[in-house]
Amino acid sequence: MKTLSIDVRRAEPQDAGAISEAHRASWLQAYGGIIPHKPLTQMVQRRDETWWRKATRGPATLLVLDVAGVVAGYATLGLNRARALPQDGEIYEIYLRPEYQGIGLGRLLFGESRRLLKSLGCEGFVVWCLEDSQLASSFFRSAGGVDIAEGMENFAEKELKKIGFIFR
Ligand SMILES: CC(C)(COP(=O)(O)OP(=O)(O)OC[C@H]1O[C@@H](n2cnc3c(N)ncnc32)[C@H](O)[C@@H]1OP(=O)(O)O)[C@@H](O)C(=O)NCCC(=O)NCCS
Repeated sequence: MKTLSIDVRRAEPQDAGAISEAHRASWLQAYGGIIPHKPLTQMVQRRDETWWRKATRGPATLLVLDVAGVVAGYATLGLNRARALPQDGEIYEIYLRPEYQGIGLGRLLFGESRRLLKSLGCEGFVVWCLEDSQLASSFFRSAGGVDIAEGMENFAEKELKKIGFIFR
């Protein structure tokens, strides 16, 4: 019988190409039709393998979700950037490749990110998502997040509202 290994681990420089691919696939799916095409493709192109190799050296902690040797998703986390919010930590990004979504793996990656922030001494943390990303909002709500903050993000000519979820 074959066993399927599922692991959340720190990203290594040799994961950079696979993370870049996971980033491209998940961002194009998540934001197509929400963020205008030009800034979206520019953001995706900027984060090539070299960009991700540098990202494995910090400053944010970069985790990968490894499913049988495939990088199925990634998360980045670190200190909270929004001074107005008292929570210490922040999950900056959490993205899964489309074909790995909806089967509990996001919850696993989120849980590991949360545990890591706690072990680093963070009291509470924040996650931001675009208001139009309904899947992300329902995911963070179901994980126990409370939406208490709002902000705006500018993408070329388009202003989009973002929501800040806090977790204790
Ligand atoms: C958001 C994301 C990380 C969630 O991970 P996932 O593996 O798909 O979610 P899970 O299967 O672990 O589901 C956990 C909960 O999220 C919610 N959820 C997941 N998929 C959902 C869907 N299609 N519709 C509504 N709610 C959904 C549910 O509440 C679910 O709990 P349940 O299974 O008890 O009902 C993942 O879907 C993703 O990468 N999406 C695209 C990128 C994105 O929006 N990232 C967040 C940017 S801030």
